This record gives sequence, structure tokens and C-alpha cells, in this order.
Amino acid sequence: MKIARYTAYGGPETIAFEDAPIPSPAAGELLIRVCAAPVTAGDVRLRSGKVPRGLGLILRLALGLRRPRVAPGMAFAGEVAALGQGVAAFAMGQRVFGLTGMTGGAHRDYLVIMADSTVLPLPDSLSFEAGAAFFFGGLTAAEFLIDRAKLAPGERLLVAGATGAVGSAAVQIGRHLGATVSATASPKNHDLARRLGAVDVCDYRTGTPPGPFDVILDVMGSLGWADARPLLAPGGRLALVTADLSEMLGVGLRPHRGGRTILTGTNKDDLSSMKRLLALHLAGAYSPILGAILPFDRLIDAHALADSFHKPGNLVVVMSTTVTDDRERVGTGGARD
Ligand SMILES: NC(=O)c1ccc[n+]([C@@H]2O[C@H](COP(=O)([O-])OP(=O)(O)OC[C@H]3O[C@@H](n4cnc5c(N)ncnc54)[C@H](OP(=O)(O)O)[C@@H]3O)[C@@H](O)[C@H]2O)c1
Repeated sequence: MKIARYTAYGGPETIAFEDAPIPSPAAGELLIRVCAAPVTAGDVRLRSGKVPRGLGLILRLALGLRRPRVAPGMAFAGEVAALGQGVAAFAMGQRVFGLTGMTGGAHRDYLVIMADSTVLPLPDSLSFEAGAAFFFGGLTAAEFLIDRAKLAPGERLLVAGATGAVGSAAVQIGRHLGATVSATASPKNHDLARRLGAVDVCDYRTGTPPGPFDVILDVMGSLGWADARPLLAPGGRLALVTADLSEMLGVGLRPHRGGRTILTGTNKDDLSSMKRLLALHLAGAYSPILGAILPFDRLIDAHALADSFHKPGNLVVVMSTTVTDDRERVGTGGARD
């Protein structure tokens, strides 16, 4: 089988492919034939080492000083190819999706994962590509809006950066929670933001929709406290999905400011959060938005696209034997790359 690995911190060209034997699952494990896997902002940050100011050394101490020690690929959708001894919860050939998280290793043809960890049956409503795209932005949006900002029905939500992986999930989930959603996006993405449920959309280069907002989800941290503060209603919450070290420390020391609150953090990627997101999907509240879909052997090109931080929705690579469904895609005219 083919597996990807990082050879150094740097550009997409630091990704290399190598051949490896297909592993056998041990007791309690599943062997999964990977059909699709996302290339996310998290993959980009890990590969490049480019993280918000002040966090670079922390990343390298945790994940590798000279190169990322984590294998590429943090999420997957695929089929069960073999069952380890004692695994009864899954069947051969069953469609599944899940997270390898910071253990990585989803950018390969086959992976092994504990059957009782972060893997779930893939519902019929999701293709392999949509299953691959499902968790990254969705888990982040759900945790920031539901658990941290405690978005309530009738509140006004601004999603700043509304059409990438996190933003496109946040607009949908915000609307489902009963908020009135406004958005910022590049002009080419305004139609998408509206289709997702935003009632008004502005180009973030020229301004924001008029406040006040009860919650602002600042996806790229591009507003920050200074620009978001005048847009927040009394009791309002600014959720910084992307924050540098000084902002994180500032939030920790002084989250409540003049009757308003600033929030940040890293989202959880555990099974109960995954099940909650799946329940939101089954309730019609959330479906992942698919942008470009590339073959796995174009993983380097996929990273180059994701590097822009301007991709619509989610970017997915598909392994060679995957049968795909183009109907769910945006931003590329429905054509395969
Ligand atoms: N805290 C956490 O646990 C957590 C979890 C996941 C992701 N993140 C972080 O969240 C960020 C977004 O991730 P993603 O997966 O959504 O990325 P993405 O899919 O690449 O999307 C980026 C989004 O940001 C918008 N954008 C780019 N520059 C902007 C600017 N200057 N002002 C406003 N919006 C701007 C883009 O809009 P246009 O395309 O319309 O220009 C696009 O909607 C990344 O920094 C990532 O590291 C944090």
C-alpha cells in the first residue's frame, strides 16, 4: 500500500510517498481500507509549522523538533477490510468514518484503528468524500457555538470567514440553533454563504455586516478583540477559533471584558463529540460542504490548495478504488479535478 509521510517542516513538497505492507489488525482493532481523507487547515499547520504567533515552539516540542513526527492525515472514511480478534461491533465491508487525530496516519491506503476508539458507521446519507470531510470543521463549529459561546435561539451570530471548513459548518449549525446568521466571505463565496443560511454577507476586506451581535465566531482571528468589541452586544461573546499565544493568555487571564466575553481553545475530537455531530447531521442541521476532490497521488497539490486558507468548504483526497459522487460539491462547477 501507499503511505504519505512528512520529510520536514515546510511546503507541500516536503510530503513523500512510500510503499509499505498492508498491516494486520491485532485483537480489538479494525483494518480499514481508506477511501477518502480530508486535507485540512490542521494538516497545513502541522506540515508547515506555520501556526499563530508564539505557538511555533510549542508545536515543535510536542510534535517534532526538525520534522512533524505525526503521520499525515487526521480523518478518514472507508470500509472495514479485516476485523481483529474479538471485534463484534463492526462487520467486514462496513462503511465507516472517523478520526486518527494527532496520531495521524489517514493519508494511506489502509489504516489500523482500535474498534472502540474514534470510528463510527458511515450513514447512507454521506458519501465517502462527505464522510471524510465531516468532522474537522463540524466538530470545531459545534464545540465553539454550543459548548463555549452557548449560542441561544433568537441571538444574532456573525461568522467571520463563513465558507471554509469551520465557517461553512458554523453557519449551518448556528442557523439550526435558532440564531440569525450574518457572514463575511470573499465575494466569490457570497452565494454559498447565503445558501448555507446567512441572511446578510459582506466582503471582509471592506467591512462587516452591521452589529450588534450576540456571538462573533472569528474563524481566522482576523477581527480580534479590537475590531470585534464594537460589534458585540452587551453580554456578547467573541469566539476566536484562531488565536495566537498572547490572545490565549489574555483570554485565560481576563475572559470577561466590559460585560462581554472572549473565548478560545482547541476543540475536542472524542467519540461523544463525534456522535453529537452525527446526531446534528441526522436531524438535518449539518452536512459537510465539499470543495475540490483530488486523487490521493495528488496529495501535494491538495496541500498547496489548502495552504491558501481560501478554499470553499472541505478539500478531500480519494484513494484509487473509490466510487465518488459529484453532486455534493461546491466551488468547482461539479467537475472532477
Ligand atoms: N481552535 C481549534 O480547535 C481549531 C480547529 C480547527 C481549525 N482551526 C483554525 O481555524 C482556521 C480556519 O480553518 P478552516 O478549516 O475553516 O480553514 P479554511 O477551510 O482554509 O477556510 C478559511 C476561511 O477563512 C476565510 N478567510 C481567509 N482570510 C480571511 C480574513 N483575512 N478575514 C476573514 N476571513 C478570512 C476564508 O474566506 P474566503 O475563502 O471567502 O476568502 C475561508 O472561509 C485555521 O486557522 C485553523 O487553524 C482551529
